[in-house]
Amino acid sequence: MEEQTITAGAAATATNEQFEPLILAFCCYWCAYAGADLAGTSRIQYPTNVRIIRVQCSGMVHPNLVIEALTKGADGVLMIGCHPGDCHYLEGNLRAKSRADAISLMLEDFALEPERFRLEWVSAAEGPRFAQVMTEMVEQIKKLGPSPFRAA
Ligand code: FES
Repeated sequence: MEEQTITAGAAATATNEQFEPLILAFCCYWCAYAGADLAGTSRIQYPTNVRIIRVQCSGMVHPNLVIEALTKGADGVLMIGCHPGDCHYLEGNLRAKSRADAISLMLEDFALEPERFRLEWVSAAEGPRFAQVMTEMVEQIKKLGPSPFRAA
């Protein structure tokens, strides 16, 4: 019995190591997207698992968009905006924070791990930080494995 458990665990690890997650990153135009651009022009490497969706402000990302993404193929979702106090629409990122709290509750309802969603602040000057956040998120989702909604 114990041997079967160990074998199953090893198989799961092997599967997760081969697993390449799909991650969506909603990036605000003014800071996060510019940070991604800087990472690119600076040739900073980060995993190719991330698909960037540019939005005008992180406060525009409705929680339903995040849930829809996670239930229709994405393994993880990032919402990235300007640092607090730097939002070009004054309070958009504060709204994003409130929405992130709502998203965390919704993830519970959908029996999804809270780590599949992450809210981050990245400025236009933080290309290395953008790449670091992407790398961390991909590693985190690889450990979790595919979204349970993928198979369904
Ligand atoms: Fe960047 Fe609002 S413009 S978070």
